[in-house]
This record gives sequence, C-alpha cells and structure tokens, in this order.
Amino acid sequence: MMDEAIDVMVVGSCMTDLVSQTPRLPKAGETIHGHKFFTGFGGKGANQCIQAARLGARTTMVCKVGKDFFGDNYIQNFKDNGVETDFVGQTSDAATGVATIIVNDAGENAIVIVAGANLLLGDKELRKALPAISRAKVLVCQLEINAQASLQALRMAQENKVKTIFNPAPAIPDLDAGFYKASDVFCCNETEAELLTGSSVTSTEEAHRAAQELLRRGCRSVVITLGPQGCVVLRAQDSAWKHVPTAPVTAADTTGAGDSFIGALAFYMAHHPTMPLEEMAHRANKVAGVSVQAVGTQASYPRRADLPAEMF
Ligand code: RIB
Repeated sequence: MMDEAIDVMVVGSCMTDLVSQTPRLPKAGETIHGHKFFTGFGGKGANQCIQAARLGARTTMVCKVGKDFFGDNYIQNFKDNGVETDFVGQTSDAATGVATIIVNDAGENAIVIVAGANLLLGDKELRKALPAISRAKVLVCQLEINAQASLQALRMAQENKVKTIFNPAPAIPDLDAGFYKASDVFCCNETEAELLTGSSVTSTEEAHRAAQELLRRGCRSVVITLGPQGCVVLRAQDSAWKHVPTAPVTAADTTGAGDSFIGALAFYMAHHPTMPLEEMAHRANKVAGVSVQAVGTQASYPRRADLPAEMF
C-alpha cells in the first residue's frame, strides 16, 4: 500500500466504547438500572475512517493505541474493515482510549472519554506519515487527540494540496484560529457551533448565522449538522447557504451519527470531487440516517452493499 493513492486519511482517535443502555440519563449523584451493556469500536477519528472505508474508500488511519488487549483488538478491527494500519502506533506508556457511553430509550447519549494513548500521537508520528498524507485526496481531523497534532496534520495536508475536513469535536471554546484557515470543510454539530460562536443554534436560520460567523474566521466552507433537521451548508465561493433536510427515521441510537456523516462526506469528496457540497451532504445525511436506526457506533454503520446503487 505504501505507494498507492489514498482516498481518505484520518489523523485521529480510537476509543473502546463501553456502552450502557438505560431508560434515561442519570442525574448527578444518582444510580439507575440499565437494560444492557456492550463494548464496541469507537473514537471519532476511527469511526469516520471506518464509515469511509465501508462505502468503498481506500483509507489509512494515523493514530495511537495502547499495547494492551483493547489496542490489539482495535488494530484487528481496522484490518477487518480494510483500513491501512501502517501508521497505527502502539505504546506501553498509556492505555488505549475508552469512552463510557450511556444511551437512553430515546436514542440520546452522554459520553465521557479518557483519551489515554490518543494523546501521545504527535510530531514524530506525523512526520513519518507525511509522504502518505501528501498522497491522500482528503484528510480528516477531530479534537480527541492533542489539538496541536490535529492542526499540524491539517497544515501538512493543506501544504500538499490535499482537501481537508475538520470536525471540531469535542469542541473547545478558544479554538486556535489556525484551524479555520486550515479547513476546506469545517463540519460541526449544533452544540459545537454554539460553543464556538457563543450564539444559540436551534433552527436552520440560527445555524446559517453561525455558519456565516465560522466562515468569516477563514474556512472555505461550513457544514452544521442538526440531527433530525438535516444540515446547513455554506460555501465561501458563492455565499449561498442551503438547508439540506433529512428523511425522518426512528432513532435506536444516535451515537456516532455525526461521525458516519463525516466519513461519508470524506468518501464523496474523494470519489466525486466535483459533486456540489450540498449533494454530498444530502447523501451523507442518508448514510447517517441508516446508522441511527441500529444500536452501537461502528456496529450500525452501513456498507456500500446496504445502500441504494444511485447513492454511488
Ligand atoms: O462520536 C461518537 C464517539 O465519541 C464514540 O464512539 C466515542 O468513542 C466518542 O469518541
């Protein structure tokens, strides 16, 4: 694989998801009974990479896991999904990242991550991956690894004319201004948009205003996902904004739906680079819409064969 073209490269996180299904989310200090517990493969970076791979993208992951049972399992998971693992490092200095997730009967969730080994991914690993980054069509980053490592990866991609998608999740209020300038597509959800802009984002109109503010900070386009309301797309080149609605579905578990959307967006940017961004978002909405109808994070992500041929 070392010299082959790469469609989608993700520099980001891997977490083992420890999921409890409960009737509702507990209050502070409260103990409640859950119905079911299961473990799964998660982490925003890996989720996005796996979704892109399942749609048919040639994918490479740059990440760090622990030299432990979870880390070994995770590497096997990448291999099982056809993701290239040349840049998946293992360390004895920290444990593989974990996410404790509670999912209520409405399919909503609350998540705590302990990033562990993810935070040890840095300059050394990125320099090693640079020849591969420069051959990728699309590079995707998030904020579950060290933020400066994400920014360095985005800049490396930009310097090599590789398209970038940045997902500022989990969001931090004082995000380095460099992230906006290094993003071809700045893609966040309504909560992240609120935190970054300081304005409420509860409707498509408010999402449009937030997108205008994010665009002013220097990215080339903004996508704000709005759950069942679909998403809002705004591009710098024509300043036209579009609301891209999504079909109503019954949600069993929304965990990782945003990652499914971003993985699909990365797939379309790599495979159909001239497709209008709103059409890519329309198709990515459909992919994410399938993912929320089943329980689990990557376990719910559709493969190409599960989707109608006209989506490709
Ligand atoms: O976006 C969902 C993901 O967030 C989960 O898989 C969990 O690992 C956390 O990183």
